[in-house]
Amino acid sequence: MQLFIDSAIPEEVQKMVDLGIIDGVTTNPTLAAKAGIPYKEAVTKILKMVPGDVSLEVLSTDKDGMLNEARQLAAMGKNVVVKLPTTEEGLKALKILKGEEVRINMTLVFSANQALLVAKLGAYFVSPFVGRLDDIGHTGTEVIEEIRQIYNNYAFETKILFASVRSPLHVKDAALMGCDIATCPYEVLEKLVKHPLTDVGLSKFLDDFAKSGQESLVNYAPTSQNPKSKP
Ligand code: G3P
Repeated sequence: MQLFIDSAIPEEVQKMVDLGIIDGVTTNPTLAAKAGIPYKEAVTKILKMVPGDVSLEVLSTDKDGMLNEARQLAAMGKNVVVKLPTTEEGLKALKILKGEEVRINMTLVFSANQALLVAKLGAYFVSPFVGRLDDIGHTGTEVIEEIRQIYNNYAFETKILFASVRSPLHVKDAALMGCDIATCPYEVLEKLVKHPLTDVGLSKFLDDFAKSGQESLVNYAPTSQNPKSKP
């Protein structure tokens, strides 16, 4: 499963690129508003940082406006995937843009039927918003299960992008359910590697070895992160 970062903040994206765990980026107008730097500047930087897919969202709500924006966004980089809202106008724009080989991420998907329609029209990604369904008392992952089943039944090639991730549990759900991608906030990505027993176990290894007075197998120097290392 690919991992994307859901962010419009270049520093966050760079940290995860350096960690080597992300394959792409998703942004949206809400994230852009939170970025704290001009959105255009942020996106220009992000497109250079990440060779993988970067989803950029249109702001128009009518078909012609979406087409106009989508063509300009697609021209910003080979790795751009254009996000369109899953509305009637969005479906019309999807059909035309598919014909022009613009890759489209259909966003704000909340039902299996919406996912069925966008797959029929050849969307590159479908983005079900799981966390927002959970917020209103629905089990968001049920929609993911349904979409996976429908896409398997008919061998649709549209990739399922688990969006609106709120916790590491969502990432595990995405992987268990066979999603192609999960797009995660920076804070969730940071939590994926962490486990208290890993820290406890590592500390015990180092303490036990230091107490044993044994020579290490190789030369190593203590660091600020590892002050217990024996020089
Ligand atoms: O990728 C979609 C995501 O940005 C929505 O997340 O947390 O605003 O529901 P959220």
